[in-house]
Amino acid sequence: NEGPLVDSLGRVHTSLRVSVTDRCNLRCSYCMPELDATFMPRDHLLSFEELHRIVELLVTRCHVDDVRLTGGEPLVRRDLDRFVAMLSSIPRLTDLSLTTNGILLREQAEKLKAAGLKRLNISIDTLDREVFKKLARRDSLDQTLEGINRAIRCGFESIKLNAIAIQGITEHEFISLIEFAASKGVVIRFIEFMPLDFDRAWHKDRVLTGDRLLELIQQHFGTLIEQPRATPSQPAERFTLPEGGYFSGAEIGIIRSVSQPFCQACNRLRITADGSIRNCLFAREETPLRDLMRQGASNDDLLSVIRACVAQKKPGHGIDAEQFSPPDRAMYSIGG
Ligand code: GTP
Ligand code: 5AD
Ligand code: SF4
Repeated sequence: NEGPLVDSLGRVHTSLRVSVTDRCNLRCSYCMPELDATFMPRDHLLSFEELHRIVELLVTRCHVDDVRLTGGEPLVRRDLDRFVAMLSSIPRLTDLSLTTNGILLREQAEKLKAAGLKRLNISIDTLDREVFKKLARRDSLDQTLEGINRAIRCGFESIKLNAIAIQGITEHEFISLIEFAASKGVVIRFIEFMPLDFDRAWHKDRVLTGDRLLELIQQHFGTLIEQPRATPSQPAERFTLPEGGYFSGAEIGIIRSVSQPFCQACNRLRITADGSIRNCLFAREETPLRDLMRQGASNDDLLSVIRACVAQKKPGHGIDAEQFSPPDRAMYSIGG
């Protein structure tokens, strides 16, 4: 039971995304329902000790070396810094990062840094308060901005901003977001809208494609300079603003999950907050570990079912296929 997690196409899974809660302090329309969201019962959530056991197992026996914490909103889980500290003491876990909406960073950024968190990705889709309210269904732009500022002062290894691109909603936000990120010295990445919204309002016409994004950005800033991808399994294509302009050299990423999927290079495995392994964001089947663990399964038992789950991974998400249907869980319950 030693060795990497390899699927039938030879993709090696070294990256684990751990969702710590499905709860969130926003209600973004591309993810959650506006009203009456139902959340996992508390006793279904894996404890930090249970999550730590799985992470440690995958790191020590299966060469996983990169963990990203997600939600819902991970910072609404109480004492998350304690979990970060537990994970950061696992030898050979070289990268530990978190994806957040930033609202609670004002209170938590320093604690998370001190606990050993290395990298942060913070979602901010607009700088316009009215657009924010419409998209996130909460009036929290100021807290998000304050959280970003606080995090920047903490000295994380990297901070990136994530902004979703939705046709008809966010196309007027890109230029100001790029200027904002550049002025703070952080990378901003734009993400194509995927069919993972609870409301099932996704339609391919609402995907503002990477091509269109580049067109809009280049109309304003001139021809961008393409940069090599950091690694093949990174979702973002990288560009820098051209020489001579105001923010020359600032980095922009484009994540074309829909128009140019990166599934053939995927190295990601996920565990939901209620303890199920998912081999893909779009998986239709998942492998529940919670009851197994609570019934006394051994590490070898767990590894066997995890390996079987990886082996069954599909080649890609198939959004373009005629018979595509979105997964039963929406983004907030899978983990971003
Ligand atoms: P870095 O290591 O910093 O590059 O992190 P990341 O970009 O993998 O993580 P982040 O949570 O910031 O993800 C950015 C966006 O990429 C997410 O919001 C998703 O929209 C998309 N994304 C993340 N993981 C996957 C994936 O496995 N498949 C697809 N199709 N999209 C993904
Ligand atoms: N499509 C693409 N990205 C999404 N996210 C949430 N829902 C979707 C979706 N339907 C992204 C957010 C955030 C991260 C946690 O997931 O923009 O950056
Ligand atoms: Fe990997 Fe699935 Fe995301 Fe494609 S859609 S990159 S296979 S998790």
